[in-house]
Amino acid sequence: MFINFWYVAAESGEVIFGAEKPLKVQMLGQRFALWRDSKGVVRCVSDTCTHRSGSLADGRIRRDCIECPYHGWTFNADGACVRIPSLGPDAKIPDRTRVDAYPVVEKYGLVHVFLGDLPEAERPEILPIPEFDDASWRFIVLKMDWQIDYKRSVENTMDPAHNEFTHPTHGFLGVREDYKVDEVTLIDKPWGTGFLNRMYAPPLPNRDMHEASGRSGDDYATGGAGNHGPNTTWTYIHISDKAWMHGYAFHTPITEKLDRIYVLFGRNYLTDPKYDNTIQQRGNFIAEQDRYVLEPVHPKLTPSHNAHEFLVPADKAIGRYREYCRDWEERGWRIDVAKVRADEDRVAYAIPSPGRRQAKSWVMPAIPVVAAPERAAARRRSAGQE
Ligand code: FES
Ligand SMILES: [Fe+2]
Repeated sequence: MFINFWYVAAESGEVIFGAEKPLKVQMLGQRFALWRDSKGVVRCVSDTCTHRSGSLADGRIRRDCIECPYHGWTFNADGACVRIPSLGPDAKIPDRTRVDAYPVVEKYGLVHVFLGDLPEAERPEILPIPEFDDASWRFIVLKMDWQIDYKRSVENTMDPAHNEFTHPTHGFLGVREDYKVDEVTLIDKPWGTGFLNRMYAPPLPNRDMHEASGRSGDDYATGGAGNHGPNTTWTYIHISDKAWMHGYAFHTPITEKLDRIYVLFGRNYLTDPKYDNTIQQRGNFIAEQDRYVLEPVHPKLTPSHNAHEFLVPADKAIGRYREYCRDWEERGWRIDVAKVRADEDRVAYAIPSPGRRQAKSWVMPAIPVVAAPERAAARRRSAGQE
């Protein structure tokens, strides 16, 4: 799991305007409190109170601040402690009592939280969805929790060979002797790789979808996928020249082995909302086929070294995704989960927020990260990246 990326904390509708109770959420194995302030803006702070570790999310929202249920210490949306009731009304409150507060953006009906300390100019953008506001497209949301390492699902999305077997509805289950995955040509971008490929596929089984797609028999379709950061992906399925489906998946690792997935699934055909149910059922049906192969994968986590799996040319995008992840690890962004787990009952860590770039002394220790090997740092230095 990586710090310094955007993660979806909730759907917008879950963070209710005027609610007295904050929403408690878990991401990257850590707990957070979310609320919507009097201007309608969603706020997010680390859940652990700096006094004696109460859960802020179990407290209440008063005058745009969050109040701990244990002794009433009160924190504003920037994380500063503004009230310590036991000290009386005129007390000077030490700066060090602050908690981490995180940047929040609402987009596509989802609440995105930046879990890291990068300054704004250096943060990756939230996965772009250019057609989201285009009236000729219609989007629905699918949401699911899978017992997997989210990276396994990201890799599955970028795997052109699994359709043939995992999805009998868009592959041939290996019965065609001439089946082969076309060579994958990767296009690398700053935050991820991707490809577009030709795929031979049967027509869609659903009658409405079949008719709207404008194709009658087995034919080539264009399919493509890519990642943006470690935890978001795009997928294009162009069934014919006129019928396109685009899926955008936002993965939030609740823990290292529990993946909450929000998929924004768009189409430029059958855009009447009356088809939403059909598309939803279809999407869930296909997703279940993926879950069926992904949850039993062993080991749960993607291996730390490719020598422990045998990759073939159809896995090219997966190999490249792992290179991106290695780069993020070498920047010091991969959480040292083993250490967090070993310390679980004794230490509450916090994901460092941008505020840690200014103030140096904090009550909550920053979450441990996997140390960047010296040679990686040297490689980046020689490439002029630092
Ligand atoms: S633990 Fe939060 S106020 Fe005491
Ligand atoms: Fe799949």
